[in-house]
Amino acid sequence: MLHVMKRLFIASRGNPEHLAQLFRAELPDFEVLTEQPKAGDPNVPYIVVGRPLPGVVRAVPGLKLVLSLNAGIEHLLASGEVPDALPIVRLVDDGLALGMAEWVLAQALAWHRNLFLYDKLQRQGEWSPQAEKLANERKVAVLGAGALGRPVADHLVRFGFDTRVWARSRHDIPGATTLAGMDQLLDAARGSDILINLLPLTAETADVVDAELLDVLADGAFFINGARGRHVVDADLIAALDSGKLSGAALDVFRIEPLPVEDPLWRHPKVRLSPHVAAPTHQHMAVKEMAANIRRFEKGEPVPHLVDRSLGY
Ligand code: NDP
Ligand code: OXD
Repeated sequence: MLHVMKRLFIASRGNPEHLAQLFRAELPDFEVLTEQPKAGDPNVPYIVVGRPLPGVVRAVPGLKLVLSLNAGIEHLLASGEVPDALPIVRLVDDGLALGMAEWVLAQALAWHRNLFLYDKLQRQGEWSPQAEKLANERKVAVLGAGALGRPVADHLVRFGFDTRVWARSRHDIPGATTLAGMDQLLDAARGSDILINLLPLTAETADVVDAELLDVLADGAFFINGARGRHVVDADLIAALDSGKLSGAALDVFRIEPLPVEDPLWRHPKVRLSPHVAAPTHQHMAVKEMAANIRRFEKGEPVPHLVDRSLGY
């Protein structure tokens, strides 16, 4: 009997050959394609894709499951490339969660222990001990309790921070206070010394970090954005930094990436920025996770982390 191979198309704009090698090792019974399949070709039920070029997804014959190379899928949805009936799986893996927890905690602890300030004082040749607090004397608010927000909240609790976590639905997070829904957003943030954004970008969460939200934080608070630039009203952020409402901000994501050279955030003395590296994809881990999801789908088992189109995440 003729053996029909299953097919997977890698539509990554980066280095599809490296990804293809990893997938071939995980799924030896699959034909892994890096060239665009066309109408009339044998069916290709699976596509691995980040930000597709126009026409790429729709041209794949017999597609059944879309595996996103990114945790945030707003670009994929906005492209209009994926028909509504096709399920999309977000990228959720330990590499992303560990990476984001490291980056957020590094920023939070550095601000909490005045390391940014001592760095400045050293360059000025100033020996100037600051009043040092313990973590349990700091209030921290985390926006988002998902694959990335939850582990960050758990680490904050472990360090002893007074932690509040806000999401769309109410979560149970030992050691933290949890709040849910737009009508509790200001309560979640009120009086916080550190505000951490780990929300997905949706119609509801765009521009959520605005003057009204920043205003309820403690004076001199610190803002950490590891999610998306479009969550933040940049003019309101800069005004809060300039007025002293915020003592600083750590930003990994921006409205336009790469951040244009003329953007004032590059040169703002209170901004620490990084080029969208808070939680980079570790391809060997991501491929293992995606291959496991393909196996689940093949067996008719539930696939975790499917995107809810009506919610946009
Ligand atoms: P998840 O989908 O797992 O979690 C999203 C969280 O946000 C959930 O807790 C959800 O609530 C909450 N949420 C969604 N909509 C709302 C709303 N309207 N009001 C209140 N809460 C809401 O996402 P991840 O944790 O995996 O990722 C979060 C984001 O991080 C990604 O979308 C991406 O933008 C960004 N990211 C950034 C990276 C970087 O390197 N900088 C790398 C990877 C991701 P509920 O729990 O109730 O559903
Ligand atoms: C993202 C990612 O969504 O890199 O930012 O996965």
